[in-house]
Amino acid sequence: MTDGRRRQFQRAEREPFVLRVPRTEDVILYHQFLQNPAVTIWLEDECQTPLSYQHIENFVMAPVWYRRAIEYKGEFIGLTGLEEPDLTLGTARFFFVIGDPTLWGKGFGEGVLRAVVAEAFNTLGLCKITSSYLSPNIASRIIHERVGFQEDGCLHQKAFRNGAWVDQVLLTLFRQT
Ligand SMILES: CC(C)(COP(=O)(O)OP(=O)(O)OC[C@H]1O[C@@H](n2cnc3c(N)ncnc32)[C@H](O)[C@@H]1OP(=O)(O)O)[C@@H](O)C(=O)NCCC(=O)NCCS
Repeated sequence: MTDGRRRQFQRAEREPFVLRVPRTEDVILYHQFLQNPAVTIWLEDECQTPLSYQHIENFVMAPVWYRRAIEYKGEFIGLTGLEEPDLTLGTARFFFVIGDPTLWGKGFGEGVLRAVVAEAFNTLGLCKITSSYLSPNIASRIIHERVGFQEDGCLHQKAFRNGAWVDQVLLTLFRQT
C-alpha cells in the first residue's frame, strides 16, 4: 500500500463524517464559524465583514437545490453545497467550509469534496462541477488537485486580503464517461 493509500485508508477509519440536510440549530454555529477571520479569509468578499445572524440563517436554511451540513461525531462542523445549478447544462458550483480550524488537516475537506463529487455525478446527474479558490488557499488547491479538478484560468487580483491583491483560480471537473 502506498503512503497516500494508507493515509486515505487510515482517515476513512478515523474520521467518518455525515452529510445531511441543514437544520435550524446549525445556524448559530455557522454564524460563529464565520466570525473567525481564519475561517473567512479566503472566502468571498461579503464574508470579510461580520454577517448578521439573519443573513446566515437565510443562507443556511434556504430551500436550495443541494446544500449539506457536515457532521462529525454528531456535531455540526461545516457546510458544503452545489450552488447555481444549471440542470439543462448539468453544471453547478462547489463550495465547502470546515468551521473549526482545529479540525483542519484531518482529511475532512478532501473527504467532503470526494463525497459531493460522487453524489453530483452518480446521483444528481451533473456532468460538470466548477469551483475556485483564492491563490493563497493552499489546502483548497491541494484538495481540488487530488480530486482531479483542472485549472480553467485565473482572475487576476480578484480580491484584496492582508494588504495585498490575490488571484482567484477557476477550476472544472468533468464526469468521466
Ligand atoms: C479549505 C478547507 C475546506 C480544507 O479542509 P481540510 O479538512 O483542512 O482539508 P484536508 O485535511 O482534506 O486537506 C488539506 C491538505 O492540505 C495540506 N495543507 C494545508 N495547508 C497547507 C500549506 N500551507 N502548505 C502545504 N500543505 C498544506 C494539509 O496538510 C492537507 O494535506 P495532507 O492530506 O497531505 O495532510 C478548510 O481549511 C476550510 O474550510 N477553510 C475555511 C474555508 C475555506 O477556505 N473554504 C474553501 C474556499 S475555496
